[in-house]
Amino acid sequence: PGAQDLAGLRVTVSAGGTREYLDPVRFLGNRSSGRQGIALARAAADRGAEVELVAANVDASLLPEGVQVTAVETTAQLDEAMHRSAERAHVLVMAAAVADFRPATTNETKTKKRGDGAVAPIELVQNPDILASLVQQKASGQVVVGFAAETGDAEGSVLEHGRAKARRKGADLLAVNAVGTDRGFGDVPNAVHLLDAGGTDVAQGSGSKDDVATVVWDAVVRLLTQRDP
Ligand code: C5P
Repeated sequence: PGAQDLAGLRVTVSAGGTREYLDPVRFLGNRSSGRQGIALARAAADRGAEVELVAANVDASLLPEGVQVTAVETTAQLDEAMHRSAERAHVLVMAAAVADFRPATTNETKTKKRGDGAVAPIELVQNPDILASLVQQKASGQVVVGFAAETGDAEGSVLEHGRAKARRKGADLLAVNAVGTDRGFGDVPNAVHLLDAGGTDVAQGSGSKDDVATVVWDAVVRLLTQRDP
């Protein structure tokens, strides 16, 4: 084994993508595979941490060994699992893709097609921002890490959007990804800037999700060492 620089730490990582059910068989979801969160969980375990992986709809074949897995489906379940873990975890990482909205109501039975061919609209309500509430309720000494997938546009570059988000979210570290139609999702290379709560660059990584995981945990170790040398 390599350096055990996370020994004695309890870390919780969320991975995957939440689903919001319209009825028992239909949901609104996203394409997150969970691979970045899984890479983070595996790397933390390799470095000696006690790891809980809160896995939202992650394919069972991808789940790593040596970590405690809590399976969730919806944002409400993820929210509950993260806040329960926050009571004892030293480090919380939100790598899951959380649905920003959910259907206002979930039908208890399968929604039927209407005979007249009419289509009913789906009313949405906003989900809680789990990362923001973990930051708000942060225990002293706890480290909270978020991820942000950004695209550049007329209003600003990927990094400009990332810096604004870092300041808005207030996480100790925000890993900012550039995403396009074929970047960032699934089993493809990823590039990341790590920003602090002030939006300043603290590290940069590029390459595989394992490389990104290494950059994140190195930064967490630096942060903990600075606070408690
Ligand atoms: O604002 P945005 O969705 O880009 O922020 C992404 C970060 O916030 C990720 O770490 C994600 O897990 C977290 N998030 C959350 N709850 C939401 C939306 C995003 O915790 N409702």
